[in-house]
Amino acid sequence: MKLIVGNMKMNMSLSDIKYYIENLNYKDNVVICPTSIYIPYFMKYNVGIQNMFYEDHGAYTGEVSPSQCSSLNVKYAIIGHSERRNIFNESDETINKKLASSIKNSITPILCVGEHDGEDRTMILSNELDKDLSGLENIDKIIIAYEPIWAIGTGKIPTNEEIFNTIKFIKDYILNKYKVNVKVLYGGSVNEKNIDTLNQISNLDGFLIGGASTKVNEFNKIIEVTE
Ligand code: PGA
Repeated sequence: MKLIVGNMKMNMSLSDIKYYIENLNYKDNVVICPTSIYIPYFMKYNVGIQNMFYEDHGAYTGEVSPSQCSSLNVKYAIIGHSERRNIFNESDETINKKLASSIKNSITPILCVGEHDGEDRTMILSNELDKDLSGLENIDKIIIAYEPIWAIGTGKIPTNEEIFNTIKFIKDYILNKYKVNVKVLYGGSVNEKNIDTLNQISNLDGFLIGGASTKVNEFNKIIEVTE
């Protein structure tokens, strides 16, 4: 079954969250990544965090640690989302440390990679993968999310053929270099209108969904039609 990861980003009030939980048609292949203060409300589901620091504890005001997430049974962590890279200047070196600590704490990292509009896709992807995965063990525990930055929140989306080829590129690149198979998700403007088309991509292991995951009826539709 395809994995459906909802990245709510910094959206939803507490009453929105309560309404959402009452109306969500949850299935086991769904992971909810709410704004971190709302994580306790989602404990009966597979829950993920949108960002996580690499140290286990200490004087790091405003940060949340992998061991704290483990203690709450957080199962997934989105690492290196383009908003973290671009708005918060997160470097590949930091992302690499976050991946290592996530794996060490048995939290499945979802590593986001993707090109800006007009950039050389395979060059950007291989460069990000090389730096982000450098020196790591257990790379098979990492899920990769291919998110073209120009497709995030824009309504623009690559063709199925382009997504197929990019997913294949990522899987082959990691298999050749690290001798492991990884799951690869697609993210960027996935919604109730394009989900049927996207579900036809044969090598895709799931979706990372932003805006559409905050609208419970739309998210239910995506859950319903994705197998
Ligand atoms: P979007 O966001 O679905 O709103 O385009 C995807 C993401 O940023 O993960």
